[in-house]
Amino acid sequence: MPVPLLDLKAQHQTIRDEMVASVLEVVDSQLFILGDKVKELETEVARLSHTKYAIGCANGTDAILLAMRALDIGRGDEVVTTPFTFFATAGTIHNVGATPVFVDIEPRTFNIDPAAIRAGITGKTKAVIPVDLFGAMAPIEQVIAAAGRLPVIEDAAQSIGARRRIDGKWVMAGEAATIGTFSFFPSKNLGGYGDGGMIVTQDQAIAERLMRLRVHGGAKQYFHDEVGYNSRLDALQAAVLKTKLPHLAGWSARRREHAEFYNAAFKDIAGITTPYVDPNNESIYNQYTIRSDRRDALQAFLKERGIGSSIYYPLPLHLQPCFSYLGYRKGQCPVSEKAADEVLSLPVFPELTQGQLDEVVSAVRAFYGR
Ligand SMILES: Cc1ncc(COP(=O)(O)O)c(C=O)c1O
Repeated sequence: MPVPLLDLKAQHQTIRDEMVASVLEVVDSQLFILGDKVKELETEVARLSHTKYAIGCANGTDAILLAMRALDIGRGDEVVTTPFTFFATAGTIHNVGATPVFVDIEPRTFNIDPAAIRAGITGKTKAVIPVDLFGAMAPIEQVIAAAGRLPVIEDAAQSIGARRRIDGKWVMAGEAATIGTFSFFPSKNLGGYGDGGMIVTQDQAIAERLMRLRVHGGAKQYFHDEVGYNSRLDALQAAVLKTKLPHLAGWSARRREHAEFYNAAFKDIAGITTPYVDPNNESIYNQYTIRSDRRDALQAFLKERGIGSSIYYPLPLHLQPCFSYLGYRKGQCPVSEKAADEVLSLPVFPELTQGQLDEVVSAVRAFYGR
């Protein structure tokens, strides 16, 4: 039985009727850009994230870019971030004219190492961008402490609804940072039918600036206080996301159950390291990512059996050709480089059947001669 890495059609079948009704409502209204649907979604995402403000935008990449613009980050500035992430985290730093400073990750969680942040901060640093990778929050309280007075932009593109217990209190992804950013790319736990993104913050002045920046920098139409962008969330995406949002917690819980099943099934395989489980850091498992001592051969073996897998990410950002101008060399972020050689993400989408889970497990075990 083939098992895809992600099966969006399986999810669509479970919500098709309510989705068709909510999409049709927008089509009938003929109101497509921003508007009430987007405002309602913003209110719901702010509530979920325990933040005062949520601002919809065109995608998760723009969310990071707009966040930096709202903090006046630009030419001559440095921004400390992780090299073990999706390209957008650092591409946006470059695109606002600033310089990405890559510091290494913590080997168990793949998230940025707070001690390395301290070492990466210079007089030019204007912000720190941790990433809540694969669905689990970075140690945000430690990142904030390491950043000192610098603002923290939490790239929570993969982690909406994740939470972390800090001093006995659960803190949501995006809640504690200066600004949090989400992506609604279709493969995310809360995925749209196209691109979409959102920015959350507790700061009113930042929120107001973001609302201007996403509409060409003008609070009043045709009057521009600064040069902004066309980066709006559209009403169709908001309707789709509003329809999916009530299901999000259940879907993420299913992913956690699948992860637990895999963890138990791979426990006795010495060549595999399963994801680090921290009872104080509740992951939404946007990815279920193992380390394998023979990763490429394992992936080829799975492929032969029709089992989808993917490598997130095969080349850390400090070694990407486009950043060669920064002068990084192999060996400078050794933990990220090792992770890039060993990681493999396996199917973990909520609608996986027990038969499919068993299929993945038996293929992985067969590869290791079990
Ligand atoms: C960590 C991270 N940051 C940023 C993004 C960018 O989001 P988008 O694809 O919506 O622009 C993504 C996802 O695609 C991501 O995984």
